[in-house]
Amino acid sequence: MSITIKDHNVFHLQTDHCSYLFTALPTGQLAQLYYGAKVNQNNTFQNLATREWHDSTTSVDFDHPDYQKELIKAEYSDFGTGDFREPAFQITNPDGSRITNLNFVNAKVVDGKSRLAHLPSTFDENADDAQTLSITMEDKPTSLKVELFYTIFPHQDVIVRSARFTNNGDDAIDINRALSAQIDLPDHDYDLITFAGSWARERHLVRRHLFPGLQGVESLRTASSHQENPFFMLARPHTDNDQGAVYGFNLVYSGNFSDIVDVDQFGTARVLTGINPQEFGWHLKTGSSFQTPEAIMSFTTNGMNQLSQQMSAFYQQHLVNQRFSRELRPILINNWEATYFDFDQEKLMKIAHNAHEVGIEMFVLDDGWFGHRDDDTSSLGDWFVNEKKLPNGLQPVVDHVHGLKMKFGLWFEPEMINKDSQLYQDHPEWMIHVPGRPATPGRNQYVLDMTDPDVRDYLFTKINQIIKETGLDYIKWDMNRNITEMYGAQLTKQQQLEFSHRYILGVYDLYDRLTTANPHVLFESCASGGGRFDLGMMYYAPQAWTSDDTDAVERIFIQDGTSYGYSPNMMGAHVSAVPNGQVGRLTSIDTRAKVAFFGDFGYELDITKLPADELAAMKKQIAFYKKYRPVFQQGKFYRLVDPFSGDHNVAAWEVVNNDQSLAIASRYQILNHPNPSYLRLYFRGLDPKKAYTVNGGSERFSGDLLMNAGYFVPRILPAGKEAPADFHADLFVAKAVK
Ligand code: GLA
Repeated sequence: MSITIKDHNVFHLQTDHCSYLFTALPTGQLAQLYYGAKVNQNNTFQNLATREWHDSTTSVDFDHPDYQKELIKAEYSDFGTGDFREPAFQITNPDGSRITNLNFVNAKVVDGKSRLAHLPSTFDENADDAQTLSITMEDKPTSLKVELFYTIFPHQDVIVRSARFTNNGDDAIDINRALSAQIDLPDHDYDLITFAGSWARERHLVRRHLFPGLQGVESLRTASSHQENPFFMLARPHTDNDQGAVYGFNLVYSGNFSDIVDVDQFGTARVLTGINPQEFGWHLKTGSSFQTPEAIMSFTTNGMNQLSQQMSAFYQQHLVNQRFSRELRPILINNWEATYFDFDQEKLMKIAHNAHEVGIEMFVLDDGWFGHRDDDTSSLGDWFVNEKKLPNGLQPVVDHVHGLKMKFGLWFEPEMINKDSQLYQDHPEWMIHVPGRPATPGRNQYVLDMTDPDVRDYLFTKINQIIKETGLDYIKWDMNRNITEMYGAQLTKQQQLEFSHRYILGVYDLYDRLTTANPHVLFESCASGGGRFDLGMMYYAPQAWTSDDTDAVERIFIQDGTSYGYSPNMMGAHVSAVPNGQVGRLTSIDTRAKVAFFGDFGYELDITKLPADELAAMKKQIAFYKKYRPVFQQGKFYRLVDPFSGDHNVAAWEVVNNDQSLAIASRYQILNHPNPSYLRLYFRGLDPKKAYTVNGGSERFSGDLLMNAGYFVPRILPAGKEAPADFHADLFVAKAVK
């Protein structure tokens, strides 16, 4: 058994390489004992539970003066009974008091892991040895029941946590905060690593040492956001990609989140993650329950590459739709940067035709095919074809694409509405706003009230009809502005703080209905690029548009940062035209492809206008990617050189297949410098005993040589237009010799 319950109520959760330990104290509270590298079960762990009385702080009760809440490393902390740190939850009781005394009631272990209702969640449907521990706690005066759930996924060294609140009392209560997980680490000698950004500049790595006090990241945009991401790490100061102890935390949630680290007076570090308590509340009626989203925790002593790999393996086996985690993703062409809003049937067919000639497998029709949309001021909500642009409807284009044996994808922005639309004429009340107050526009558009079941029914009917009638293979679900004037016309006064969470639950409900009704359709999520790059979305849409910035140099940083917390096949990565639309940079088509290969590869440019040499290059790139697609999309990903440190001029990545017979490493150099030093690239994850060739050369290298001594990288010399010396990329394909 991987979860054991010992005398004195010691709970020991063991994965292949980790242990997580906590206990129920004689006073009823749960106390954390340890989370880290695996330890032997044959311990009593009483030493870790030892207390030491401190001056000037309160005791749990009169009979136990040495149990002091400020000193207990808590599993799920309350506020107002002696622990003055950030709490995990808080309740307003029927009498207005905000005190909860949770006491341990019982514990239960079951095999497996079932999905949550109404929330994206992890699962164990391949009998991968998951086990779930549920701990029941109770607040006697109000009969509030709180269950804490812990699932271990032993082979990926992942523990999933969540909490459920059930009101068994006679009166309604209000939940003021309900985070998903808490860890109280005994010291704070860690670096907090988060991923900050902006539109077109998502998920840049930020690393700082923990300091006494509060620190963390959050979103209040009713989206996980471009600005911060729910994924974060705590690493020992010398930990890097290849070695060292590191914890990773992520949330299966797409709305307002809060990742908090509170370093207290004794130097302990309380880690909390969950729904942002600001702009949140939940009115819990008698007999009803509230379930938090799930938090994912993972740990390794072997550095951040190992952490990313185990989390990625976990997502692919226990979070992402299993059909799409196995299937290879199609190489696509998207018409957005080729035409923007300006296209007709002939243009689309020509793009598809030329794309087919070079080997592209899917055509995606982006924004502008519906209502009377010619720019971003109109028609969101009118999910019927734009007859001015496509007088014969969508069908001839879809049939043309299918006739080429290509897949067809279509863009929607389901959650949005323009005032210039039929939908607004018919249902102005469906737009989120506070009656009597102005509504804030964003990109000329407003947001539909996704908490309203009628809105979701309308969207389901319209989108489902188009999928069925035209035979769609793929949907790009966009979301191009954040939510303001949070107010639900359907909600009572007491429920208004529920709005942001209910909005996200509404989005999940629509996703659930559409994906269930159309299991073969691949969804890609998008939010002005990477504004909703999170595990909640990945549950329904296994890939996401990583960023609106397709410049190869910018993408090195964006994809590198994203790779810490997400799988390579979650990242849409396209080659676009130059000068780049976002930064004006000129990079070669070679470099652009060598960056985009490390994701779900595609093109987003006007293929009908490309010169013959670029078309020929494309054809080669596509053939190359098809040959190596399994390792690019499903191989183990390594960061070899970190672009966020040093002079920010070099990055290198690698993917390795399962049996270590194939590895592809890349090396990117942003600016070239004269007379550089002698360079070597160090492979990772090869079989030390196997012999490899590199880039088809005749020399044989043992795996241990390529990993330890490295592989010589020739100096980059100016070589003309095709491969300018700046913004240079190299690939090294290592193949085991039979
Ligand atoms: C967003 C997306 C783009 C594109 C446009 C269309 O910005 O991120 O990829 O779909 O919307 O309006």
